[in-house]
Amino acid sequence: MTSETPPTPNGTPNATLCATAQIGVDSAYGAVIPPLYLSSTYKFEGLGKIGAYDYGRGGNPNRDGLAQAVAQMEGGADGVVTASGMAAIDLVLNLLAPEQLVIAPHDCYGGTQRLLNARQQQGRLRVQFIDQSDAAAIANALGQNPAMVLVETPSNPLMRLVDIARLADAAHGVGALLVCDNTFLSPARQRPLTLGADLVVHSATKFLNGHSDVVGGIAIAKTKECAKRLSWWANCTGTTGAPFDSYLILRGLRTLHARMDVQEANATKIAHFLEAHPRVSAVHYPGLPSCTGFAIAKKQQSGPGAVLSFTLNTNRDGLGAFLANTGLFQLAESLGGTESLICHPASMTHRAMDQDAQARAGIGSTLLRLSVGLERNEDQVSALKTMFAAL
Ligand SMILES: Cc1ncc(COP(=O)(O)O)c(C=O)c1O
Repeated sequence: MTSETPPTPNGTPNATLCATAQIGVDSAYGAVIPPLYLSSTYKFEGLGKIGAYDYGRGGNPNRDGLAQAVAQMEGGADGVVTASGMAAIDLVLNLLAPEQLVIAPHDCYGGTQRLLNARQQQGRLRVQFIDQSDAAAIANALGQNPAMVLVETPSNPLMRLVDIARLADAAHGVGALLVCDNTFLSPARQRPLTLGADLVVHSATKFLNGHSDVVGGIAIAKTKECAKRLSWWANCTGTTGAPFDSYLILRGLRTLHARMDVQEANATKIAHFLEAHPRVSAVHYPGLPSCTGFAIAKKQQSGPGAVLSFTLNTNRDGLGAFLANTGLFQLAESLGGTESLICHPASMTHRAMDQDAQARAGIGSTLLRLSVGLERNEDQVSALKTMFAAL
């Protein structure tokens, strides 16, 4: 399924694309919301006559409808819906020949680091983790003939930003593909393919679905040719997502812009509250002028998003006291749902990284990450005040 016309880079058409994703496309009964196709197999029209679908691993209307909707929003040719965000990243790695080099950020999601390290140990690829905000490190890595540069911007959990257009140009200069993990912002706030990236990956578990009730992923390619290669691999390895999960993600996707607007406004107020707090030594949020990535955010994002992290000025006991009563902030991994979450990356999301890797990435022992939800902002701030009072 392919979107021929990329949407304009203006927020309003993208918001409309989002709200109307796959609305009114049912040709069987005119259902406004597309039905759920659970069938694993489809009838042939006759000997050698395959219809639009034949077998659910390779193709399914709900999965394809979701892929088409997100591809349109990202400005890509087409995409593949996968069983998780990790499956989407692994799917993209199939584009590499054996032992080709991948350049990845040293502070990327811990699961991504684990996957790349494991694939390297198998001899499937080579990986080099670098600080992608360091121009000399990038120049050095690009000099080693990489085949793929993976970018995560904003990064998880330190919200470091990478200039996508600049890195895409540099990667293309040495013949490498640029892949961008757009999980933290979603196409409601950043569209890497329009900035020069070749592929976008998402943990659809996060903002795309937005309700913390599905694990899913999606890989979007800029060109039809690349999308076809991804589809081939997805069918070959059976990594495709389930129809019901795709149905739910599409349902969540339609409110993405509305959710992001409110959650981002809440996150901005919380970032200012934290920045002014004496027990906070650093706030990482691209909406703050004090954030190192502020200028890049202005250039390539249409908003700072709804995730931030901050360093608490305390020790291990203080951290325990702070997290003992988190109120409406659930102490849980993940992000991008309607509910607010608080997470301690060192012991939760990033525990797959050993201590050295955490230290190199700057993930300190009192760093906390917030995914800001839809609750009334006053109630969110009041929950944070209760946590600070326990210090
Ligand atoms: C930036 C990023 N990419 C990829 C993933 C992996 O996604 P999933 O948990 O859906 O496999 C995550 C998960 O937290 C993430 O934060």
